[in-house]
Amino acid sequence: ARTRAELDSALAAASPGVPRTRHARAVVMTMGALHAGHLSLVRHARELADQVVVTIFVNPLQFGAGEDLSRYPRDLARDLELLSGPGLLGPGDVVFAPAPDVVYPDGDPLVRVSAGALGETYEGAVRPGHFDGVLTVVLKLMHLTRPDVALFGRKDAQQLVAVRRMVRDLDVPVEVVGVPLVRDDDGVALSSRNAYLDPDERRRALGLSRALRAGAAAASDGPAAVLAAAHAALADEDVDYVALVDPDDFTPVPDDHVGEAVLALAARIGTTRLIDNTSVTLGGE
Ligand code: PAJ
Repeated sequence: ARTRAELDSALAAASPGVPRTRHARAVVMTMGALHAGHLSLVRHARELADQVVVTIFVNPLQFGAGEDLSRYPRDLARDLELLSGPGLLGPGDVVFAPAPDVVYPDGDPLVRVSAGALGETYEGAVRPGHFDGVLTVVLKLMHLTRPDVALFGRKDAQQLVAVRRMVRDLDVPVEVVGVPLVRDDDGVALSSRNAYLDPDERRRALGLSRALRAGAAAASDGPAAVLAAAHAALADEDVDYVALVDPDDFTPVPDDHVGEAVLALAARIGTTRLIDNTSVTLGGE
């Protein structure tokens, strides 16, 4: 075999039969404190594969000094109960909830995955080393669970891009599927970190999705107008970034961009950092 396609068919030739329409195994990786966004990933996984593996692991490697590693919400019993709900996990499925020394038996790993330039912009700029930590654990969990397909939420849009790039750049034999972002009825993106918000902060958190809607509403006026509208809607908040980026590589779109883009933002509501994003289509007329 000389090409990727030839290699794939030569490898498949040893196990002939009808071409698979379903995958054998899907993995959904989480840090627990599960909510309807996570469960949507599991439901999609259930549709795609015969066996679903859910990993629950608060990965120390992706938390910076002074971040919320020690207080990140952990409730395995509740997570397991949620995962046994209708349309979710059944017999033959697996929950992998390892202790840190199971994932990192030698302590912090010497060899790690680098997210490259992707790890230095937006979330990566505010959280140095974060995406290296994410990609390192995602690759390890892929090796440990050996899935055919891995599902990630569009809630973490830059993470999804980084995982896709890792899989492509390192030829990881796993298909990556992105799943739509799940919001609360009032528009706030579901996040385990919403548990940190007091009632007043929960109300202010509405500003993030409101800013996205304001930005999207300005799409016909071009990228600068989208960014200005989103910034204006968040004027009272402590904004880390508002960005309009290419969905494939998370680099800023040019001022004359036409077509799809991701409007992504991050803000601090009290001591809690929240992120949100939406896809925006910039018109060409
Ligand atoms: P965590 O924040 O627990 O998220 C696990 C998965 O759920 C991610 O793919 C995330 O994008 C998805 N998710 C979270 N909230 C969502 C929402 N409101 N709608 C749709 N999907 C949502 O992301 C991580 O954990 C970690 O970085 C991990 C990939 C597990 C590596 O440690």
